[in-house]
Amino acid sequence: MITGYGHFVQLAASLQWDEKAIDFSADRAAWPLLEDAESARLHGLIAGFVVAETSVAGSLNSYRAAATDPSMKETFRAQSRDEARHARFFDRVASEVVGVAGETPTERRDALRTCAGPELVDLFEVRLPATARRLAEDPAGLTAAVGLYHMVIEGVVLVAGQHAMLDALEAVSVPLPGVRRGMELVLRDERWHIGFGSRIVQTAAIGPDQTEAMLELGRTAARVWGDLITPEALETAMRQHRRRLTTAGIKFW
Ligand SMILES: [Fe+2]
Ligand SMILES: [Fe+2]
Repeated sequence: MITGYGHFVQLAASLQWDEKAIDFSADRAAWPLLEDAESARLHGLIAGFVVAETSVAGSLNSYRAAATDPSMKETFRAQSRDEARHARFFDRVASEVVGVAGETPTERRDALRTCAGPELVDLFEVRLPATARRLAEDPAGLTAAVGLYHMVIEGVVLVAGQHAMLDALEAVSVPLPGVRRGMELVLRDERWHIGFGSRIVQTAAIGPDQTEAMLELGRTAARVWGDLITPEALETAMRQHRRRLTTAGIKFW
């Protein structure tokens, strides 16, 4: 039996933050002053995060249900709480900084979906929920499902997007301090989520087919951002992915 995920729960508790406490007043004033190319890039990335975080927040229930170890279950619960907070944070950015129209988070997400790109929408709103549904029917598929969610989606796709966002925020002509602060906090949470997933994968027997599948998925999944992230950023994300798989004790054949 896999045991000993309690330190992730403690870590999560020590890293809690409140998205409502972030002050966006400077960001709101800065947004209309951005160059068109700057706001277009940020808008595309924010649209992707709104779609992605809402979807991951909704998919974790089946992961928690499939876990047999109580401390692993508790860790999935802590992760769910983080993902829901991330979804609320990006919705606040969309609504209060970007000025996306819509009365509710769902209306705003619907408005942003077309900017997010069909491949990103497909990965988060079709493929990930399908994996979560399969997991609900067959809890034995937990390791493979963690391979998709924690290693590929979080470890490659979201991390690549988050670094692209931080680079974009670094380069803008007028600073957006609230968005930047929130992004740093999101990235801090994502680090332990990926560490948690790596730990689950590490303790499981992974065969060569699954290893190759995780690498290949990483390669294709990271392209969902299109031009919003640079080929170099993609390459870095893939290098980290491969290193993480190696650290998790996975051999490459
Ligand atoms: Fe997240
Ligand atoms: Fe996460």
